[in-house]
Amino acid sequence: MSPPALLDHSSSAQVVTVALGERSYDVHVGAGVRHRLGSVMPAGARRAAVITQAGVGWNVDSGLDQSVFTVADGEEAKSLSEVERLCRAMSRAGFTRSDVIVAVGGGVVTDLAGFVAAVYHRGMGYISVATTLLAQVDAAIGGKTGVNLPEGKNLLGAFWQPHAVLCDTETLSTLPPRELRSGWGELAKYHFLTGDDLEALDTDSRIAAAVRIKAEVVAADEREGGRRAVLNYGHTLAHAIETAGRYDLRHGEAVAVGLVYAAEVAMRLGRIDSERVATHRRVVSGYGLPYRLPAGIDDDEELLALFGRDKKAVDGVTFVLDSDRGVEPVTGVPETVQREALAAIR
Ligand code: GLY
Repeated sequence: MSPPALLDHSSSAQVVTVALGERSYDVHVGAGVRHRLGSVMPAGARRAAVITQAGVGWNVDSGLDQSVFTVADGEEAKSLSEVERLCRAMSRAGFTRSDVIVAVGGGVVTDLAGFVAAVYHRGMGYISVATTLLAQVDAAIGGKTGVNLPEGKNLLGAFWQPHAVLCDTETLSTLPPRELRSGWGELAKYHFLTGDDLEALDTDSRIAAAVRIKAEVVAADEREGGRRAVLNYGHTLAHAIETAGRYDLRHGEAVAVGLVYAAEVAMRLGRIDSERVATHRRVVSGYGLPYRLPAGIDDDEELLALFGRDKKAVDGVTFVLDSDRGVEPVTGVPETVQREALAAIR
């Protein structure tokens, strides 16, 4: 099966509110919503600092006096040295707390720019224009911002909610195919978090549905005290594969396999039946993604050891598993079950 048609845009943009009291904000999803930037600017903002990467290639018009700051390519941009470089450049250019940052790009840019917004002059407003599918359905929503340290990813950060998020689905048409596949993998996760039938929706509406689901979870658990763990569905195996570090699998590709792995684990614990596992396979393959581990990822001992090192693990290995009550964190999964489920996805 091939992934959904990208140009399958809904006729009108959809707006989802992340309800967080005085920190509430709207996420606009649809073709061309980047052109709404001027209308979502915070009242009183004088100037905009547009933060982007060279490869992003989308210009935005804030309607304000704006300066563009281009950061390093790739994940390299999420570093403290890049934070310092940006803050110093903004300072020299005279930016203050009453101005606004506009992040234009994928999750690397929205994480970095959001973190700069959280710390520059003790905090200023920011708006994200998310131009990758992964950022639209995940990274740009929720207020977790941050950068990496050589010791690990996202070890420095802040919860800092944006003022608005624009998920322009037109920007997806220029994404490299693998970047897009990675986004589909993260989108596949949302098929299992609620009873909503995402398969019945066109692409834009699926993205809006994913945003709505994430918005609800974030509104219920802004600071990751519990419920946010469901957003990690499919991520236990995915993080292990990524942490091993030598496999050519993008985040969402690893999540896709991780979703089916989690289903295999849940079935062995009697939480779901084989039909539900088959639904996981169908959804993942519907996005053109694999549901088996690629050849070469064959060191079970290493994967099992890495499960326990997942930074979200609080009390031994925490899996996020499906059941007829929905997806929930589960501890104490026997190692034999973890091994058998790995065998099932080879
Ligand atoms: N920035 C992603 C999140 O808050 O979950």
